[in-house]
Amino acid sequence: MFNKVAFIGLGLIGSSLARVLRANHLAQTIVASSRSPRTLSLALDIGLIDAGYADAAEAVLDADLVVLAMPVCATQSVLAAIKDSLKASVIITDVGSTKGNVVSAAETVFGIVPTRFIPAHPIAGSEQSGVLAGKVDLFDRHKVIITPLPHTDAEACLLIQQMWQVAGAEVLTMTVQRHDEVLAKTSHLPHLLAFSLVDTLARESQNLDIFRFAAGGFRDFTRIAGSDPSMWHDIFLANEQGILSALDSFSQGVERLKSAIVAHDSDAILGILTRAQVARHHFTHMLAGTAYQKTMNTKNLQFVVEAGGTLQGNLRVPGDKSISHRSIMLGSLAEGVTEVTGFLEGEDALATLQAFRDMGVVIEGPKNGEVRIHGVGLHGLQAPPNALYVGNSGTSMRLLSGILSAQKFDTVMTGDASLSKRPMERIAKPLRQMGAMIQTTGEKGTPPVSIKGNQALKGITYDMPVASAQVKSGVLLAGLWAEGETVITEPAPTRDHSERMLRGFGYKVKTEGSTIRIQGGGKLTATKIDVPADISSAAFFMVGASIAPNADVVLEHVGINPTRIGVINILRAMGGDLTLLNEREVGGEPVADIRVRSAKLKGIQINEADVPLAIDEFPSLFIAAACAEGTTVLTGAEELRVKESDRIQVMADGLITLGIDAQPTPDGMIIQGGQLGGGKVVSHGDHRIAMSFAIAALRANGTIEIEDCANVATSFPLFVELARGAGLKIKVLEV
Ligand code: S3P
Repeated sequence: MFNKVAFIGLGLIGSSLARVLRANHLAQTIVASSRSPRTLSLALDIGLIDAGYADAAEAVLDADLVVLAMPVCATQSVLAAIKDSLKASVIITDVGSTKGNVVSAAETVFGIVPTRFIPAHPIAGSEQSGVLAGKVDLFDRHKVIITPLPHTDAEACLLIQQMWQVAGAEVLTMTVQRHDEVLAKTSHLPHLLAFSLVDTLARESQNLDIFRFAAGGFRDFTRIAGSDPSMWHDIFLANEQGILSALDSFSQGVERLKSAIVAHDSDAILGILTRAQVARHHFTHMLAGTAYQKTMNTKNLQFVVEAGGTLQGNLRVPGDKSISHRSIMLGSLAEGVTEVTGFLEGEDALATLQAFRDMGVVIEGPKNGEVRIHGVGLHGLQAPPNALYVGNSGTSMRLLSGILSAQKFDTVMTGDASLSKRPMERIAKPLRQMGAMIQTTGEKGTPPVSIKGNQALKGITYDMPVASAQVKSGVLLAGLWAEGETVITEPAPTRDHSERMLRGFGYKVKTEGSTIRIQGGGKLTATKIDVPADISSAAFFMVGASIAPNADVVLEHVGINPTRIGVINILRAMGGDLTLLNEREVGGEPVADIRVRSAKLKGIQINEADVPLAIDEFPSLFIAAACAEGTTVLTGAEELRVKESDRIQVMADGLITLGIDAQPTPDGMIIQGGQLGGGKVVSHGDHRIAMSFAIAALRANGTIEIEDCANVATSFPLFVELARGAGLKIKVLEV
């Protein structure tokens, strides 16, 4: 890459880069200049450089690359000293933590910044310093920011970029100004605080006695106060503006926390701490290369499930997704603290939780399924700082549409690729009739959804054209703020968790036949919620235990709300052996333990009345049908085409791949029972499709590989572990 490289300064960063050049044979000759003769003799001793010079001008003679690796305030004097010794084609780069002052130093010395001057900053320091602290892998998987100017030579820029890539770094570019703003906040401010805290404490205690009691927290917080003072002295002066403004906003934050402590305002204190804790976790995931809610935008997961096995034992599947969403929503809008247990810590419900945190609600947890929500009342939500991102979750987006339509502030909601294809006009239309200003996107009325605040809503009478609990709930929730009565009639019964939970929070909701009424202007009072296990997650084990030989499982504490038990009705109609044990009521929701044993299933014509009651369970029921004797026919289920994927097409494709005669129809499917084979199927990022094909392996005669399974975490975070424990031969590969 280079004939001769000259380092000016050979501390931690400079010597680490020199090690990279040496180890990868990127330079024939490496020389350095340093103010410290000892640095040069050490570097010569360890063979890092071929020659050392006290005078920088001598070092750069004939060099094709000059790396400025000394404290940033020396940039101008160094450039002035070497200017006349540089060869015409030389590339100059630097490694400083500030870019504005480095660029203006170059401008002062050269008149205009040379085209082959490439300002760069590897973000890979440590509190250690000196030539012996350098490491060849210091930059491995770290970021290097290059801040080219408009006239910077593209070829030189590329070469510097390649050099850093060889060091294992990820190279980014940004403007000089942006770099200094960002680094002021993320690096310079923390160093300033660490130095300042240690100095303050050191002054207070003349004999430094208190440091003897300083444990992990102090050590972690102040590690960077051990860094090189001359380097940081220069950085603080060089990025004065950025640092002072970061310090101002930090001081305001400290002031907020201080006032909350003075006022004993627990909500405010917990608000700051819980938001910070979540942001810190977020940040840890980002550093680990995984996204916040792990599956969103992360690597693809593949399930590989060996044929055979069985299911045995007592299993508790995670909390109900629909109820978990609603617990956060109503808990946030209630007065007082709502305590939730059994909360589903899946990504969909976490997306709702995050949305309310973004709107200023203090939420503790979730920790082992426990959440404490400090309700802000019906008029206490605050404008979120950004668009609300709800990931894969249709329930979040549709129910929130109702809530947000009644707020004083504007909002935008966005989602992942799958949610961005799903219909949102079905909820926007009735809300508009109530007076909401809500806009969906594109011809198909999909996300993003934008909502204008400050609209006075009025109650409407609405005959729902589709049986959808999400639409019903969105309209009902808007009805909390509407003037007068909101009356909704549904074409078929859908899950009624919203109605039940509103009553649990002390709000009157009337249900007469298929009509539900709610009057605006009341209030919600905090309560305790015990979320039962999700029947939609239990369904995979109901089907699995039915089709596997010698299976016997008890699914514990499963919600058996009558609007959700379609899967039990259908499996029983097919000859399934399901027994409900210990039927009881928990917080307004019926619950039971469900025993399921192997059975000889037969094909049936599925009763259309069961369709809305089993709407999420058809992917697994299609597997049951594939293992049944005879033909199963599903009609009246066109809704399946607009779920997390087109569940009719995607399931039919997968079943056909596995050798089953499955014929998709516009509103359902016709499946001939047969022998499932092995093969590779695609879930299209749909959690329920992925889990259904995993369970299918129990009756297949070959291994089933399922692509695109990361979204299983949206509703069933520990599916693989639980299923494996019960006997499914499942492996997960990161691809
Ligand atoms: C849900 C309702 C159903 C269901 C979804 C959750 C809810 O959707 O498919 O998983 O929590 O209200 P639709 O209401 O769109 O049928």
